[in-house]
Amino acid sequence: MTALSVSTSAAASLRADALVIGVAKGSKGIVLAPGGEAVAEAFEGKLAEVLATLGATGAEGDAVKVPAPAGLKAALVLAVGLGDAVEGGYAPEALRRAAGVAARTLAGSKKVALALPAESAEEVEAVALGALLGTYAYGTYKSNGNGGKEPVGELLVLSTRKGSKDAKAAVERAVAVGEEMNRARDLINAAPNDLNPKSFAAIAQAAGKEHGLKVEVLDEKALLKGGFGGLLGVGNGSANPPRLVKVAYTHPKAKATLAFVGKGITYDSGGISLKPAGHNETMKCDMAGAAAVFAAVVAAKRLGLQVNVTAWLALAENMPSGTATRPGDVLRMYGGKTVEVLNTDAEGRLVLADAIVRAGEENPDVIVDVATLTGAMILALGNRTFGVMANNDELRADLHAVAGEVGEQSWPMPLPAELRKGMTESTIADLANMGERMGGGLVAGLFLKEFVAEGIDWAHLDIAGPAFHEAAPFGYTPRGGTASAVRTLVRFAEQKAAGGKG
Ligand code: BES
Ligand code: MN
Ligand code: ZN
Repeated sequence: MTALSVSTSAAASLRADALVIGVAKGSKGIVLAPGGEAVAEAFEGKLAEVLATLGATGAEGDAVKVPAPAGLKAALVLAVGLGDAVEGGYAPEALRRAAGVAARTLAGSKKVALALPAESAEEVEAVALGALLGTYAYGTYKSNGNGGKEPVGELLVLSTRKGSKDAKAAVERAVAVGEEMNRARDLINAAPNDLNPKSFAAIAQAAGKEHGLKVEVLDEKALLKGGFGGLLGVGNGSANPPRLVKVAYTHPKAKATLAFVGKGITYDSGGISLKPAGHNETMKCDMAGAAAVFAAVVAAKRLGLQVNVTAWLALAENMPSGTATRPGDVLRMYGGKTVEVLNTDAEGRLVLADAIVRAGEENPDVIVDVATLTGAMILALGNRTFGVMANNDELRADLHAVAGEVGEQSWPMPLPAELRKGMTESTIADLANMGERMGGGLVAGLFLKEFVAEGIDWAHLDIAGPAFHEAAPFGYTPRGGTASAVRTLVRFAEQKAAGGKG
């Protein structure tokens, strides 16, 4: 794993494989960003010109390498783009992305120093987190590891702020969140023949031991005894039986109690309502919600936040077989409600319903569920934005705002009352697991809402779009699992811990 620290060393005298500086798009060509002054000096005023000649524009995603001149001890200078030049400080997300590009571009280097804008604690945290996330590469199944290139061994964030308490705390936050996000990415990227409900539960138990979290696992027998018809119904077709995992972090002076519920379908074939070819190749990512809530509770513990957080992982594998749930079957969910399964591919809401009811029994102040729930949400918002629904408008606005603060794209979505009818009309059960096709992401949200206990604030993040990145890497986002929603959950918990409305 990559080591990361803040350093006040002078950029010029630092021995490193590479020195990273920021460049931006000014009105008259490229502009050097703060932090790179010493490097510019070593180029005797010619740096911008040299970089422009090599094709640098300052645009986001730019990465231009130059051999270091004699005045520097580093071997190489890498200039990364920050986008449009701004006065008075670059946005944290621009810094995260640029640092991510740098860490990705320099894979294979032993030691990299980042001379990006990093004066405020917020900037230090952004550079640190972006760089850590940018080091990520998934090489578990490759004979030559990550294409033969190890992630950067050591990252130094250069800042004059070292030693100040807030910069140290900022780096600690970046390391805890970055490492847990990278672990969540590993879970999402793991092949579904390795990661199943049982092995996921075992990983949660091991992490619980490592970090001092309380972990309880309900296996298929316990689920049967408890009446968890949703989890059992979805898991019925698989040789790998379902699990409900509870991971609890408590703080003696907790300011709030939060329940995070994650959809953990370790593989979604669709079940008897089988997905057509072309729609199931990436369905190992259907446990990204469970990975996110798991990463968030571990990060909350590592940061010692003054808040109680319980993560609920609703784990099952959705497969077709002679024992699988049929379209037409009726399931009795945890808590007693009955559901007619009209489409076995609408399985996420079934496992989540059980977990939401169970989470509600512990009377948390808030339940937030995270799920790769609907293709409809991808149609609505695209591949990089998650939808936020809630039974409380203020909570929905808060989560949307928090997501924006940490650089996650989200958008508030409604739960229109008239769409509820389609799920409740003309069925032999209390509900059907499908309603109208139009607004399918909202229908799914309305279904979940039915299982939230009276008086509990609840929000639902549909991360089907951003959970898994299939296109070329950008910024700090690699191909594959992204760990979408982790930062939003952690910041939400931080705000609650600080007594903010969050
Ligand atoms: N896991 C899928 C949703 C999904 C699709 C996630 C694409 C990520 C990428 C979910 O279980 C599903 O199949 N949803 C159906 C619901 C429908 C049958 C009501 C869908 O969206 O088509
Ligand atoms: Mn499905
Ligand atoms: Zn699914």
